[in-house]
Amino acid sequence: MRVLITGAAGSIGRVVSAGLTSLGHDVIGLDILPGSDLIADSADPAEVHAAVASTRPEAIVHLAGIPTESALPDALTSHVITTAALLEAMIRCDVRRIVYASSNHAVGRTPRAGFDTLDHRLGVDTPPRPDTFYGVGKVAAEALLGMYVDRHGIDAVCTRIGSFLERPTSRRNLASWLSHDDCVRMFHAALTAPSPGLAVLYGISNNTRGWWDLAPGRALGYHPQDDAEDWATEIEATPETDEDIAEAAAVGGPFATPKFERPAFQP
Ligand SMILES: NC(=O)c1ccc[n+]([C@@H]2O[C@H](COP(=O)([O-])OP(=O)(O)OC[C@H]3O[C@@H](n4cnc5c(N)ncnc54)[C@H](O)[C@@H]3O)[C@@H](O)[C@H]2O)c1
Repeated sequence: MRVLITGAAGSIGRVVSAGLTSLGHDVIGLDILPGSDLIADSADPAEVHAAVASTRPEAIVHLAGIPTESALPDALTSHVITTAALLEAMIRCDVRRIVYASSNHAVGRTPRAGFDTLDHRLGVDTPPRPDTFYGVGKVAAEALLGMYVDRHGIDAVCTRIGSFLERPTSRRNLASWLSHDDCVRMFHAALTAPSPGLAVLYGISNNTRGWWDLAPGRALGYHPQDDAEDWATEIEATPETDEDIAEAAAVGGPFATPKFERPAFQP
């Protein structure tokens, strides 16, 4: 499949570009930084339209954005305006599928208590409960994608990614880790699942201690293979800190703690 990847020069973008290429996809990378096939600002509708019109992809993987907390205007530009620019270009150029890098921070203030058993996992139907302006941006981007699915009949898959890392490094990561290989599996499944309409899934590996529902991802063909448990002994050999305990209280971990409180309009 011919796929345009925004944010292709970033940490997820580099891994997913290489991984999808090795699976036989024809990947075109776009980033605001040099090093990709196309240099463009995903928040600029004209630049985005020119990129989509000139490359004519069958699908878009949208990764471009600030992957952490920022002032509200920057978060909205980074996650909502970029998504809108892509959606408008898709409609004009008849691109029918987008896979979006959303985040667990869309529901980050949801308390963790009670979500530990197989019978009671954090579902993708959990009401929006962002922990940061970053999370607000992800909620709004998911809503926007839903509106374009309803109005224009496109397919949109929102992948609520956990912690994309080479290996887990904290107690929280024992549940939230997404390995590099599973990340590629996830985007491949989201690109190739037949007619998903609007779909949401949690982007984590097959972690023994995971408590986010993987069933919606499996229904789309995402079958994660890696397990953070391989690092559990090493991680648990270090004493549990107050920070670990605070981070375990809500879905969003550190983002849900007071450490991430900030004014909306301070640059
Ligand atoms: N890394 C994680 O664990 C994680 C977890 C949840 C969600 N996500 C989401 O995944 C996406 C990618 O995250 P990442 O960790 O690879 O971040 P990253 O910062 O490594 O990469 C983001 C890339 O997007 C590019 N970019 C930013 N704004 C742009 C714009 N306006 N136009 C074009 N390019 C732009 C940057 O230059 C960068 O190369 C982000 O949307 C992030 O919110 C990441």
